[in-house]
Amino acid sequence: MQTISQLVPLRSAVDALRADGPLALVPTMGALHEGHLTLVREARKRAAHVAVSIFVNPRQFGPNEDLDAYPRQLARDSALLEAEGVSLLWAPTVEAMYPAGYATNISVSGVSDGLCGAARPGHFDGVATVVCKLFNQVRPDMALFGEKDWQQLAVIRRMARDLDLTAPHVDAIIGVPTVREADGLAMSSRNAYLDADQRAQAACLPRAMQAAIAAMRGGTAYAAALDALRADLLAGGFHTVDYAEVRGSDSIALLDGPGSEAGRLFVAARIGSTRLIDNQPV
Ligand code: PAJ
Repeated sequence: MQTISQLVPLRSAVDALRADGPLALVPTMGALHEGHLTLVREARKRAAHVAVSIFVNPRQFGPNEDLDAYPRQLARDSALLEAEGVSLLWAPTVEAMYPAGYATNISVSGVSDGLCGAARPGHFDGVATVVCKLFNQVRPDMALFGEKDWQQLAVIRRMARDLDLTAPHVDAIIGVPTVREADGLAMSSRNAYLDADQRAQAACLPRAMQAAIAAMRGGTAYAAALDALRADLLAGGFHTVDYAEVRGSDSIALLDGPGSEAGRLFVAARIGSTRLIDNQPV
């Protein structure tokens, strides 16, 4: 596995890999866990070579968010990726990604507006901007993203369609189902912030979501099921529910009951200072 942190050597490295067959990209911010490694394994099945990027992207963190505290463990991550048969680790410096004078922003309206877009202003502009740059830098044939961050996946698909990104074009953006711990909690680099008590309490998030979905499927009005869900989370150890909403799985538009578009339940809630998100089909 080659590890590269500057653009000039990246160009020749990706040219050589692409000459050998399809190239897949898995963008990450590092602190890798089984969720990330599942994306890598899926990529390995689909492409001759896999490139993984690790870049803690300052533009997607708000002023009071955890940019400085975000776990950075490049040596450990690198060993994990080597063992998975990854060909290229692209780990740019902040200066290589955003040189002095950098001034361009990509903003995807509509799908970016509610949920995490409302709770974290500017977050999806930062994500869209860095992912577009990663696509241009690595020029992969396909890219893989987790359904854990469903709204992010919707934003990236919209951007690929709107900007006529040809590689990876919208059909080559592959969503991978959420990987969970044994108790159902979605794997996340932020789970490392939880102490033992909080970690045990956090499992009530997927459980309460399942209960709300069962109620909605059984005919309970969405608003009533969501009220019960918020109450379950607060009783289970979460101190704030940022949002608990059903939205259209493609449009990300708010749904107040069953309709023509498939619905998805989206929740963000805080336990201690840690913000956890999850989503599941209704
Ligand atoms: P990060 O949080 O490191 O996640 C990298 C990729 O792993 C994303 O596509 C995310 O959805 C996926 N992922 C995380 N946890 C997962 C889980 N439990 N199951 C399945 N997939 C999971 O998402 C980002 O980084 C950044 O926003 C990025 C796209 C790299 C842009 O900076």
